[in-house]
Amino acid sequence: MSSPLAIHGGPPAVRSAAPQVTWPPLDVGRAVAVTAQLCTRVSPPGRGGVIAELEGGLAEFFGVRHAVLTSSGTAALHAAYSALGLADGDEVIVPAYTAHPTATPLFHLRAKPVLVDCDELGNLDPLGVEAAITPATRAIVVTHLWGVPARIEALAEIAERHGLRLVEDGSHAHGAAVGGRRVGTFGDVAAFSAGGTKPLSAGEGGFVLTDDDDLYYGVLLHGQDGARCRAEIPIDHPLRRYAVTGTGLAQRMHPLGAAVALGQLGELDRRLGGRRQLAARMIAELRGLPGISVPEVPARSAPAWYALALLHRPEELGGLPVDALVAALRAEGCLEVEHPRSPRPLNEHPLFDAPNRIFPNLPEGWPRYRAGQYPRAERRHRNTLTVRVPHDDPVLAEGYVRAFRKVIAHHRALIEPAP
Ligand SMILES: Cc1ncc(COP(=O)(O)O)c(C=O)c1O
Repeated sequence: MSSPLAIHGGPPAVRSAAPQVTWPPLDVGRAVAVTAQLCTRVSPPGRGGVIAELEGGLAEFFGVRHAVLTSSGTAALHAAYSALGLADGDEVIVPAYTAHPTATPLFHLRAKPVLVDCDELGNLDPLGVEAAITPATRAIVVTHLWGVPARIEALAEIAERHGLRLVEDGSHAHGAAVGGRRVGTFGDVAAFSAGGTKPLSAGEGGFVLTDDDDLYYGVLLHGQDGARCRAEIPIDHPLRRYAVTGTGLAQRMHPLGAAVALGQLGELDRRLGGRRQLAARMIAELRGLPGISVPEVPARSAPAWYALALLHRPEELGGLPVDALVAALRAEGCLEVEHPRSPRPLNEHPLFDAPNRIFPNLPEGWPRYRAGQYPRAERRHRNTLTVRVPHDDPVLAEGYVRAFRKVIAHHRALIEPAP
C-alpha cells in the first residue's frame, strides 16, 4: 500500500502521548486545597466554607445575585424547571439537538418537551421557536452547544414578547459571552453541569444561576438541606413553610468537588482566552479544506470551545464515512478527535418516542418523536466530529491541522480497496 497515512502504516502526523488535552487542569495547588478540605470538613451543614466560597465566586464571575451548587447539571436543570413551576401539560421548547439531560427532567414534572430544529451552528433556531409557540408554551430552553453561544439575544426577545420564561443550559459554555455578556445571564435562570471535562469541572456537579429571589428559594428547596433553607428563605415567604423537607430531594454538591472547581474559576477567563486563540488558528487553517466545514461564529460571540465541532461533508470526499475519517485522524495521533454519540437529536432516543413505558403516569397525548423529524439536527449529528481544543499547546494544535490536511489529501486511499 503506497498511502503514507498512519492508518496504513505511515508515520503519524502527531506524536504527543495521551492524554493530549488534560482537562480539568489540576495542579499541586488543587491537590493541597482538596486535601485541606478533606481534613477540615467533608460534610458541611448549610451554606458554609467551600460551598459558600464557590457560590460567591460564581455569582461574582457571572454577575448574578444567586448561585446554587448542585450534585450534577441534570439536578440543576431539574431544580430550575421545578422552581419555575413547570407542570402537567406545560409545553417547553427544547433544542432537538442537545444532550438528553437538557430535556429529561421535564418528564419528571410532566411538562412536555417540544423539540425545535437547529440553526447553522447546531443551536436552537429562533425562527423554529417562533413557529412552535402555542397557548400551552411556558418556557424556552436553550443549550449553547459545544460552548458556542446560541442566538440568545433573539431568543430572549422572543421569550419576552410572548411572556415565556427563558432557561439557559450553559453546560458547555462556562465563560462564553455575547457582546461581552456571559451566557447564563440572559434568561430567568441558567443551569450548568460541572462534570467531566466541562469548561469548569468539579469532577461531578452543577450549579444554578438566577437573579430572581423566588426562583432562588425554589431551587434551594430542590436539594439543599433544611438548615440552609431555614437560614435563607425569609420567614414571611410562602415557600418558607417547606424549608425543613424541601421537595424531599438531596442534590447538593460534594465539598471536595467544590474544592476541585474553586481553583479553576480564577483561571477560567485566562485559559478560555488561550483556547480561543488556538481555536481561531485551527479554524483559519482548516477553512476551505474540502470535506470539512468550520463553525462560522459571529464576531460578537466569544465561545468557550468545550470542543471545536467540525462538520464533515462526505460528498466532497467520495462518500468517506465520518467514522473512517475519525479513525484515520486518530491513527495520525489526533487522540482528541471523535465522532460524538452525545449530544444527539433527542427524537432518536426511545425515551422521546415511547416515554410511557418508563413514565407510566405521563398524561395521554404526549408527543411521539421519531427519527427523520429533525433533518438539520440529524444531518449535523451524523457528520459532526469534535476536536478538544488545548489552551496552552500551539504545537499540538498545529499538529492536528497537519493531520487533517494529510488525511484529506489522501482520502482516496481510505475509500479505494487496497491493491
Ligand atoms: C448540554 C448538557 N446539559 C446537561 C448535561 C447534564 O450534566 P450532568 O452530566 O452533570 O448531569 C450535560 C452533560 O454532559 C450536557 O452536555
